[in-house]
Amino acid sequence: MTFRTLDDADLTGKRALVRVDFNVPMHEGEVSDDTRLRAAVPTIAKLRAGGAKVILLAHFDRPKGKVVPEMSLAPITPALAKVLGLPVAFAADCVGPAAADAIAAIRNGDVLLLENVRFHAGEEKNDPEFAKALAANGDLYVNDAFSAAHRAHASTEGLAHILPAYAGEQMRLELSALERALGNPERPVLGIVGGSKVSTKLDLLRHLVTKLDKLAIGGGMANTFLYAQGHDVGASYCEKDMAETAREIIRLAGQNNCKLFLPLDIVVAEKMAPGAPARIRSLGAVDEHERILDAGPETTERLCRAMDNSKTLIWNGPLGVFEMPPFDKATMSAAHHAAELVKAGKIVAVAGGGDTVAALNAAGVVDDFTFVSTAGGAFLEWMEGKELPGVAALSK
Ligand code: 3PG
Repeated sequence: MTFRTLDDADLTGKRALVRVDFNVPMHEGEVSDDTRLRAAVPTIAKLRAGGAKVILLAHFDRPKGKVVPEMSLAPITPALAKVLGLPVAFAADCVGPAAADAIAAIRNGDVLLLENVRFHAGEEKNDPEFAKALAANGDLYVNDAFSAAHRAHASTEGLAHILPAYAGEQMRLELSALERALGNPERPVLGIVGGSKVSTKLDLLRHLVTKLDKLAIGGGMANTFLYAQGHDVGASYCEKDMAETAREIIRLAGQNNCKLFLPLDIVVAEKMAPGAPARIRSLGAVDEHERILDAGPETTERLCRAMDNSKTLIWNGPLGVFEMPPFDKATMSAAHHAAELVKAGKIVAVAGGGDTVAALNAAGVVDDFTFVSTAGGAFLEWMEGKELPGVAALSK
């Protein structure tokens, strides 16, 4: 796909409607992780430098088409102003006179954040009338919200058909990193998929075994695979009704020459609690009261060797209960090893998805990875091989 980028645009004096993803974690009314705000900086800077009025469109949470004061974007404004080192104006609505007046009041190069687009039912319905009402306040549209591009909403998809549409800098960065990891990667490519449920990652696993040379499965979902192979998983979390599906994925991997890595050994405990006494077990040696909470050292060692023999790594989902030491060991060791290989120029490592980013943050390696996506659901859908409506609408 090719996109119009801001390098192709005449920006002077233009009202640029920029879709960003400011769906950020908040704690006691303040932004607790400003990664997504920082991600918007390059696009905002480029538009300002070109002399455009920067008008930001965003959603926060899921107010379902109604005004929910707790889901206002107003508390984001000071955090954004801090990240930009600039004043940021705020308008109490994203359409109508409140928005138009606020836009008229700013000068070229100024930044204005409009209230939550999801306060209007037309946003999620991708209602053409609502898209038109948004478009009335802009001369051009920039989508910089890769992480919301799996939604076909008015501000992520509809607008691109009304105004001249451009991919923002973060959007470009995300797409080129993902292309490098899965679209057109240097081989061999190793994937790590973890997390708790096979059922939520079925499409992902089915797609990945056709794309990757090697795939390591970890986290709770590995228990389902172990169970499907006839191993006792004790009191572990396990989706027993997904056993046949797990076997189908194992078969598919074989047919596609994708080498599957399932745990060789595991870490178990009777309780899932921080600091709970942990034991290393070989497969099949799990007691009925024990729960599998992490991959074992032999499994981790084999995964690190698989990384050594790969040129590209794509990672989604932790290998164990990383929030709860000592069950964070496999995830932390694998994260550190991947980071070392990237630093040595031996591998391209791309990661994404909410838990994954939290795990890499906990390991302190986010900045060492080649690319860590700001996206959760959009990253997954992209890895599943699905077309993202927000991306498709931008294509020239
Ligand atoms: C995200 O946080 O992943 C995106 O902003 C999408 O949010 P949504 O799942 O509420 O559409």
